[in-house]
Amino acid sequence: MTFDTIIIGGGAAGLYCAMHAGQRGRRVLVLEHNAEVGAKILISGGGRCNFTNLGVAPDRFLATNPHFARSALARHTQHDFIAMVRKHGIDFYEKTLGQLFCEGPRSSQKIVRMLLDECAAGGVDVRTECAVSSVKLSERFTVETSAGAFDSETLVIATGGLSIPKLGATPFAYRVAEQFGIPLVAPRAGLVPLTFNEQDMTWMRALSGVSTDVRVSIGKTAFREAALFTHKGLSGPAILQISSYWATPTTYLEVDWLPDASEDVLVAAKRVQPNALPKTALSHVLPERLATVLCAAHPPRPLGEWKDEALITFAQRTLKRALLKPHGTEGYAKAEVTVGGIDTNALSQQTMETRAVPGLFFIGEAVDVTGWLGGYNFQWAWSSGWAAGQAC
Ligand code: FDA
Repeated sequence: MTFDTIIIGGGAAGLYCAMHAGQRGRRVLVLEHNAEVGAKILISGGGRCNFTNLGVAPDRFLATNPHFARSALARHTQHDFIAMVRKHGIDFYEKTLGQLFCEGPRSSQKIVRMLLDECAAGGVDVRTECAVSSVKLSERFTVETSAGAFDSETLVIATGGLSIPKLGATPFAYRVAEQFGIPLVAPRAGLVPLTFNEQDMTWMRALSGVSTDVRVSIGKTAFREAALFTHKGLSGPAILQISSYWATPTTYLEVDWLPDASEDVLVAAKRVQPNALPKTALSHVLPERLATVLCAAHPPRPLGEWKDEALITFAQRTLKRALLKPHGTEGYAKAEVTVGGIDTNALSQQTMETRAVPGLFFIGEAVDVTGWLGGYNFQWAWSSGWAAGQAC
């Protein structure tokens, strides 16, 4: 069968691209190998889909070329997507930090329904349980699938990254890139819990389940949110955020366990409670178990017996600028996203079309653009899908 455009991958980016291309009058086919489209949309945000963020800005995305995403994000913004959500009567709310979620349990289904309704309005043919075996290009693109061969003038690869293989993630986009000589930025897990070596785990394990507000940084990149101790290391929003910037095992995280306090926090406590132990004073401002563990390396002497300078050094090294060296990550099975992907130097930032192979497009998470936690990754799927949808 013949189409104007074939889109491989029926996730956020693929469906959004399809509806726009279809509504432009293109004959569009979407091929999805899962039994349902939009698996990640359905489970996202605990079933409520954090579909965008009010604070979307290019500096909230990681990419080898930090300017690449600007064009698509500026031409199809969070407000365009919000207008679409409103048009479909989907209720939503701002949870925190500009993050917009659908209202109600399992409400992420409404986003998938919206995308499918818009695809239907554009006459898009959406086929599920369709496994792609090969892609060829002569005059047109030919896609061999478990449901037969299809051909098209343009081909959009929207198969996402490697995160959560059990939801259908595959390296398909990277294979197509390799086939057509399109360069790749090495992929790695992002927005992922971090693991630590046995030495660190001896104290971290005792804190499993403890959550606290921190400021965590690598160089100039810092996040102020909650960190959560797990039985494998650290998770929670602050850690997921910084994990995307943690690329090598030699890199340390700098953790401020008391982001609202200054380095003289213990000196101030000494003035008020000179007979208290540091861990007792700190348990007023930190979870008690964490205060105990952080103080374990210091002599258990009452604050009044410490010199002020020694308390400032204690606070600097242990509380305000603690250095932690992750050992690894929990990998793609737990990662919300894949950092890296199709090298953006190979793509038009206006249309997502490859320069080397006219008619071949890559969109969404397959591309080397990765957003922060909080709705940014869906916005990239919508913006890049829209950009390709105008041109494919
Ligand atoms: P996506 O992965 O959505 O879609 C790719 C599609 O291609 C899938 O349907 C897949 O089955 C299909 N496919 C793969 N290989 C194929 C092949 N060979 N043949 C045919 N089809 C194939 N982001 C956010 O902004 N807010 C949030 O709340 C969340 N929450 C969240 C929770 C969890 C648990 C995860 C894992 C991820 C998130 N994300 C998120 C990230 C977000 O889900 C992700 O960035 C987007 O879904 C990416 O959209 P894409 O369409 O590029 O890929």
